[in-house]
Amino acid sequence: MADPAGSATPAFDAIGGETAVRALVDRFYDLMDLEPAYAGIRRLHRTSLDHARDKLHWFLCGWLGGPDLYVQRFGHPRLRARHLPFAIGIAERDQWMACMQQAMRECDMAPDLQARLTAALFNTADWMRNRGG
Ligand code: HEM
Repeated sequence: MADPAGSATPAFDAIGGETAVRALVDRFYDLMDLEPAYAGIRRLHRTSLDHARDKLHWFLCGWLGGPDLYVQRFGHPRLRARHLPFAIGIAERDQWMACMQQAMRECDMAPDLQARLTAALFNTADWMRNRGG
């Protein structure tokens, strides 16, 4: 997705490029590991989050309008299909979003950028739902 938030500056550049995307992803998974509020989605993941960190980093770089690191390695993400093994409802979507929003705040991302990304990520997270409730 060249520009999920529909602004003139690609979100990838506005965030600060690949290093900043990696810092965001690392904080996201650190929080998922640490915070009881995200235990519900932590349980869906493997014991090690190493693969998840790399894959979300590669995916987000392309999705934000930067280099398509995920597609170069794995082809089309088929993101919804890849999430079908995990029961994702409203609670899981909301935990994922809350964890990402906390990570954005803690990475000191500019508030307008946080708002852009939150809106764009919510659509993707909502699309991942595969069960009611
Ligand atoms: C809505 C709530 C979500 C839940 C509960 C969830 C959960 C998961 C889980 C359990 C995995 C497997 C990780 C592993 O291999 O250990 C995964 C993989 C992944 N997730 Fe999510 N996810 C959610 C939303 C999202 C969103 C919104 C994005 C992107 C913006 C995303 C991007 C990815 C990517 C790129 C992978 C790796 C796929 C692969 O190649 O195997 N996820 N997710």
